[in-house]
Amino acid sequence: MSSARGGDARSSAERVSLDVPSESVEQTRWLGAILGGLLGPGDVVLLHGNLGAGKTAFTQGIGRGLGVAATINSPTFTILKEYAGRLPLYHFDLYRIEDPGELEALGFADYFAGEGVSVIEWAERGEADEAEGADAPWGADALRVRFERGAGTARLLRVAATGASSRRLLDGLADAVAREVA
Ligand SMILES: Nc1ncnc2c1ncn2[C@@H]1O[C@H](COP(=O)(O)OP(=O)(O)OP(=O)(O)O)[C@@H](O)[C@H]1O
Ligand SMILES: [Mg+2]
Repeated sequence: MSSARGGDARSSAERVSLDVPSESVEQTRWLGAILGGLLGPGDVVLLHGNLGAGKTAFTQGIGRGLGVAATINSPTFTILKEYAGRLPLYHFDLYRIEDPGELEALGFADYFAGEGVSVIEWAERGEADEAEGADAPWGADALRVRFERGAGTARLLRVAATGASSRRLLDGLADAVAREVA
């Protein structure tokens, strides 16, 4: 795996995280599209990273992988936008949430266990305590992606699993990335 896009995963038996470098917005969408092809009903993807880190770009890739035809834009002002694809895509942006309890009050909790896939930007704003994942409205098992900015267009996407379902996604993602760059 010599390509810069190859990522760096531990062996499959103990894989809990995967780091994938991105050099461009298109590479970030590419990784999102691979994930989008793997997602199933009820899966939850949590996105963390600063303004402009690439969370929405990654979600656009997920939409591509789910076969969403519509253009995906940031739902900052509406908190949630829904898209039709192979599965429904629920795209959340919690930037404007001040208290995790608001999510419940706004009636969003039902989405996380629904038929669709939830992708959540600024997920930390919906969690009282990230370490207490089980307390989050989406439950303990979710795939977490942290976006770290480097110089220029460089980003490092750090993917981690927190339960059985997200572990399967992580394994699938690592295998697919390895295949695509081979
Ligand atoms: N490697 C990269 N991956 C993703 N985006 C990149 C990359 N390099 C440059 N960009 C640019 O950075 C910006 C990322 O914007 P995006 O809306 O995806 O960020 P965001 O994390 O969703 O921000 P916000 O917190 O405001 O919602 C875009 O303008 C994109 O073109
Ligand atoms: Mg965004």
